[in-house]
Amino acid sequence: MVNPALDRLPGSAFVRLRELLGPIVPQVETPLAMSIGEPQLPPPPIVAEAVAAHAHLWNRYPPNEGTPELRAAAARWLTRRFGLPAGSVDPDRHVLSATGSREALYLFAQTMVPPEKAGGRAVVLMPNPYYQVYRAAAEMAGAEAVLVPATAATGYLPDYAAVDPAILARTALAIFCSPSNPEGAQADLERLTDLVRLARRHDFVLACDECYCELYFGDAPPSGLNAALAASAPGEDPFANVVVFHSLSKRSSVPGLRSGFVAGDAAILKAFLKLRSYASVQMPMPLAAAAVALWDDDAHAAANRAHYARLVAAADRIFAGYPGYVRPQGGFFLWLDVGDGEAMTKRFWQECGIRVVPGRYLAADDPAAPGGNPGHAYVRIALVHDEDTVIRALTRLRRCLDHPDG
Ligand SMILES: Cc1ncc(COP(=O)(O)O)c(C=O)c1O
Repeated sequence: MVNPALDRLPGSAFVRLRELLGPIVPQVETPLAMSIGEPQLPPPPIVAEAVAAHAHLWNRYPPNEGTPELRAAAARWLTRRFGLPAGSVDPDRHVLSATGSREALYLFAQTMVPPEKAGGRAVVLMPNPYYQVYRAAAEMAGAEAVLVPATAATGYLPDYAAVDPAILARTALAIFCSPSNPEGAQADLERLTDLVRLARRHDFVLACDECYCELYFGDAPPSGLNAALAASAPGEDPFANVVVFHSLSKRSSVPGLRSGFVAGDAAILKAFLKLRSYASVQMPMPLAAAAVALWDDDAHAAANRAHYARLVAAADRIFAGYPGYVRPQGGFFLWLDVGDGEAMTKRFWQECGIRVVPGRYLAADDPAAPGGNPGHAYVRIALVHDEDTVIRALTRLRRCLDHPDG
């Protein structure tokens, strides 16, 4: 018998999209997928070089916690990128390697969710819209998934402080994503620090999904680790209750490398390592060596950021004057209000040959939201192709929006 929690999960957004668009034949010859957030830039050459240079390590089982070199590179990068005090991140206590952030987020919930808290079923808080894995992680851990609206009214980020205190008391884990997928919204240090204080007050774990943190177009988004330090008095455990999730997928255009790490609260990571030593596959050592080379190199990440900044600048120009356009602060998605996301997705495919995702497929139904779902009015457009392709595609989409009758 299948675990009934699995049956309760909604179908994948991409399966639903295939069903929606299956019967429609696009009117153009060269269709384009802007549905999947998969960077189409070539991977940096240092990946292949590092893998070749470490080919003698294929015969080794990788350590469960990740190689010391990889954890040290992650600590160096965190310290540089977020301006953390030297030595504050101890690679041996505060960092674990992961095969991308998706599996880490999923398994983290299996580690941190007890059956009960405060006399009731444990809760996992997550934004709505949400990255699909958050919900699966919570449901499969046996928790009650509480979806907190992340809408224009809340700056496109969930306001966990506004959640009913009885629910906060039962909360074991809160997942927070900045820059957010799909909205591209960023939390500033004040907002993050308030969240850390909330987590400590209600004794839940704050899991910060920061996999888009290198793709930003204004101020660099801070980390949950900055906030943890800001919320701690001298002598307190600076990272208490906070764990951050990082990945090379977006930063370095290597989603296929399956490489990320988690960092933060040492006691929590010790428990996480225990679960991972049963459940996880670790990065093979030659790939871990490539990850070290990538974390140590900021130049290619800066070039990637400049590339996405050009795409967002193009979107600014192309959607100038369109009322549903909000410039993303980070990440590589446009979250465009088109009135009816599903209907517009069909038109975009039929008339422009461009595949986007209806916002409601990325969100849970909520009777309080317009159209019964906070993503109802939106489509998500992934800006993952080269500049010319993106400019041509966005121009076609804008034309389609300006001519509602086709
Ligand atoms: C918000 C968010 N978190 C986590 C991930 C997982 O990425 P990866 O497992 O490649 O690190 C993704 C991937 O699309 C994402 O959009």
